[in-house]
Amino acid sequence: MNYMNNKEQVATVISAALDNELTVAEVTEKLEQPKTSDLGDVAFPTFTLAKTMHKAPNMIAADLLAKIDQDAFEGVKAVGPYLNFFLKKGNFAATTLQAVLTQQADYGQQDLGKGGNVPIDMSSPNIAKPISMGHLRSTVIGNSLANILAKTGYNPVKINHLGDWGTQFGKLIQAYKMWGSEEEVKADPINKLLEYYVRFHQEDKEHPELDDAAREWFRKLEDGNEEATELWKWFRSESLKSFMKIYDELDVEFDSFNGEAFYNDKMAEVVQILEDKDLLHESKGAEVVDLEKYNLNPALIKKSDGATLYITRDLAAAIYRKREYKFAQSLYVVGAEQLNHFKQLKAVLTEMGFEWAKDIHHIPFGLITLNGQKLSTRSGRVVLLEDVLSDSTKLAMQQIEEKNPSLANKEQVAHQVGVGAVIFHDLKNERMNSFDFNLEEVVRFEGDTGPYVQYARARAESILRKANKTDFDLDNISIDDPAAWDTIKALSEFGATIKRAVAEYEPSVIAKYAINLARDFNKYYANSKILVEDDGLNARLALVKSVSIVLKESLRLLGVQSPDEM
Ligand code: ARG
Repeated sequence: MNYMNNKEQVATVISAALDNELTVAEVTEKLEQPKTSDLGDVAFPTFTLAKTMHKAPNMIAADLLAKIDQDAFEGVKAVGPYLNFFLKKGNFAATTLQAVLTQQADYGQQDLGKGGNVPIDMSSPNIAKPISMGHLRSTVIGNSLANILAKTGYNPVKINHLGDWGTQFGKLIQAYKMWGSEEEVKADPINKLLEYYVRFHQEDKEHPELDDAAREWFRKLEDGNEEATELWKWFRSESLKSFMKIYDELDVEFDSFNGEAFYNDKMAEVVQILEDKDLLHESKGAEVVDLEKYNLNPALIKKSDGATLYITRDLAAAIYRKREYKFAQSLYVVGAEQLNHFKQLKAVLTEMGFEWAKDIHHIPFGLITLNGQKLSTRSGRVVLLEDVLSDSTKLAMQQIEEKNPSLANKEQVAHQVGVGAVIFHDLKNERMNSFDFNLEEVVRFEGDTGPYVQYARARAESILRKANKTDFDLDNISIDDPAAWDTIKALSEFGATIKRAVAEYEPSVIAKYAINLARDFNKYYANSKILVEDDGLNARLALVKSVSIVLKESLRLLGVQSPDEM
C-alpha cells in the first residue's frame, strides 16, 4: 500500500483548489510549519501567488479556504496571507507511523544529490604530531556530513588529507639525525617525534644554522633523496598506525589517505598553468599570485628556494579531485583559523579559470577547550584524544554500574556510550560555536547529552521486548492521545530536518532534533500507559517502534551507535 504523508495530503488539496496552477510538489515546497501548534500544523503562504493571480495574498487565502473540503481536516483557517491547516490527529499519526514503519531505516531518505560525488576533506592530522581536539572536530563533523549527504542522495568520498609534507619534515629529519634513536621512536612514535620537533624549535632560536640544514633536508625530500624518503616513510607509517587506533575507536573510515605528499608530482602542472595565465609574480624572490581584487593577501606559491607550500599542494589536490571524482561539491572540514587559506584557494582557482571553484566549500568550525583550557601541540601541553575517549568510557561504565549492573556486554555498551557522548557533544553545538568540554557533563545520562538520547531509545526497545512485538497492523495505528502528539509531529519532521542539516552543513540540526524527539518521547512515556491490553496497544507500540527507528537513525547520521539495552 502507498501511504500518503501529511504534507502531501495538504498539498494535494491546495493544488486542486488552485486548479493545478501549482503542482502538488510545488505546493509541498512552499508549505511551512507554524511557530506554535495552536496556529495550526501546516501553513500555506500565499505571497508568491499574488503576482500571477493579481490578487492580494489575504484574498487568495480566503478564496482557497472556500474551495477546500474542510471535513478532511480538524480545521482550516485563513489568517492574513496564510492558510493554516489543523490536521486530524488520528490520521496524521497513522500516516506518519505508516511511513516510518514501512521505510524503516530508509525513512527520511531523499534524492537531492542525484548521486553526485562530494569529496569531504576531513580529519587531516599532521604526521609526527598527536591528533588534536581540532582534528577530532573535523573527523566527527566530516563523518556526520558524509552520512547526511548519503542520506540525501549524494555520494560522499571521505578524504584524509594527511599533513605529511612540508618544511616541517626537513626540521624533523634534521632533529632526528641529531637527537633521535630508532628504539625510542618505535616504542612511542608520536610523543618522541613531537619531542624532537619541539626541541628543534627551542634550539634553532640560538642556532639559526639548524634552519638551513632543515631546509636542505626538505629540498632533498622534494627531490626524492633516498635517505630522506626512507625516514619520511617511516615517520609517516608509525604516525598513521597511531591515528588508526583513534579512528577505530571513533568508528570512522576513510575512502582515501591521499595526503599532501600525494601531490608532490602534481604541483608542476599547477605552476605551469599559473605561468601560462601570467598569474605568477615575483615578490622578494618568491612566486606569488596577487589577490588584491578579492581583498586578500597574495597567495605564496613557491618560496625563494623553490620549496612548495601548503596552498600549492591544495591547488593540486583541488584539481585532482575535480578530475578524479567530477564532484558536485567539494568540502573542506577545517577549523575557522584557516578561513583565509580557503578564500585564497578558491580565489586562485577562479583566477586560473576553473568555474567549478564555486563548488568548493570550506566548512569551518570553532575552537574547543577542555575544562577551560586551550589545547595546543606547540607548547607541549597535549591532550591526547585517546585519553579523553578512555576517560569518557570509564565514566559511562560507572553510570551503567549504578543503573543497570546486571547488563550483559557492559564493556561494549560503555564504549558505545562513552565514545558516543564525546561525538554527540561535539556535534550538538553549532559548528562555529566555540565551546568548553567537561567530560563529567558530556557523559551524563540526563540533560542534552548523547547518553540521554541513547537511553531514550534503549527504553523504547525495552518496552518492545516486554511486549514481545515485532510486527504491527499498519491499518490500525491511529492515535489521538494528546500526550503523543508532540512525538508524532517530531517523527513527521525527520525528513525536513535532514534537509535543513544538509543545506547548512550542520550536524547540530540533527543532534538537536534527536534531543527533542527523545524528550517528547520521555514525556509521552511518563504520561501514558503504553503496555495495557486494549484496542490501542498496537498503535502505541507502533509509535514506540517508530521512535526507536528514528532515534537510531538520527544517532547513526551523527556517527553515534545506539545500544539496544543500557
Ligand atoms: N593538516 C592541516 C592541519 O592540521 C589540515 C589540512 C586541511 N585540509 C586541507 N586540504 N588543507 O592544520
